[in-house]
Amino acid sequence: MITLGIEGTAHTLGIGIVDSDKKILANVLNMYRPPRGGLHPREAANHHADVVSSLILKALEESGVTMKEIDLISFSKGPGLGPCLRVAATAARSLSIILNKPIIGVNHCVAHVEIGRATTGCTDPMLLYVSGGNTQIISFSNRKYRIFGETLDIGIGNMLDKLGRELGLGYYAGPVIEELAKDGDELLELPYSVKGMDMSFSGIMTAALALHRKGCRLEDIAFSIQETCFAMLAEVTERAMSHTGKKEVLLGGGVIQNMRLREMIGKMVDERGAKVYAPDKKLCADNGVMIAWLGNLMYSSGVRMSIADTMVEQKFRTDKVNVTWRN
Ligand code: FE2
Repeated sequence: MITLGIEGTAHTLGIGIVDSDKKILANVLNMYRPPRGGLHPREAANHHADVVSSLILKALEESGVTMKEIDLISFSKGPGLGPCLRVAATAARSLSIILNKPIIGVNHCVAHVEIGRATTGCTDPMLLYVSGGNTQIISFSNRKYRIFGETLDIGIGNMLDKLGRELGLGYYAGPVIEELAKDGDELLELPYSVKGMDMSFSGIMTAALALHRKGCRLEDIAFSIQETCFAMLAEVTERAMSHTGKKEVLLGGGVIQNMRLREMIGKMVDERGAKVYAPDKKLCADNGVMIAWLGNLMYSSGVRMSIADTMVEQKFRTDKVNVTWRN
């Protein structure tokens, strides 16, 4: 069975094509970069609408399969930005109707777990999912993917981007902050916001901006925000591992490219005698392949959806999904 998946939860419109043997036939994407300011959902959606047709054709060309050979269409049903989700869903519905092929709407966060399980060798991981819009610690328990901890306000990637913008470091500033942090040598005091198993990041950003106004070095601010926030992520991930007894940590989301975060999580996991797994960079960030792969898993396990079932869900929780494809 060949599945075409359409990802469109936030800044990236991605098309992936996979077969049932986990073979990736195509992975093409186009990321929206705002000319100024932050990510405006409507502008990102307009970008996605502009590129979706040409990306589908590009993916077909890359895969070597024809439109008629596609057996299943899947798309990101949520969670995400409403206008962006609707572009992906509309494209998926159109293909499904025109080709007369089944359609499956999938949960974006669960797709990050399943592409990790399919490509890294882990079997039952604790997913540390850190991106612009999401910061969650997710694992399988009692037939659902459950959230063991999450941000109470904004995603860590969103916080780093906003901070970078306010500090004049440009948009998608995470990599710039990571570079600056290497030259930081003073750990400045920032709020450590772990509340139970959840975290919050917006107050830390406000405190970091206050330090900037006081004249603290950018390098020290970058160093301190990384050390503080990554320690929070490591703490919550460790407690979730301790609670569930899981021995694998899977990394997912764009922020996982940060080498200091990987180092801190790696150290914690080593000390527990557990193992860290990370998908290939192209599969770690948002992509259509993971959407196609989860669509394939769901359909193969008997899930069916009508067009009426494909309404997007901006706040689609992972534990709403019945995991029919795992024992
Ligand atoms: Fe994502």
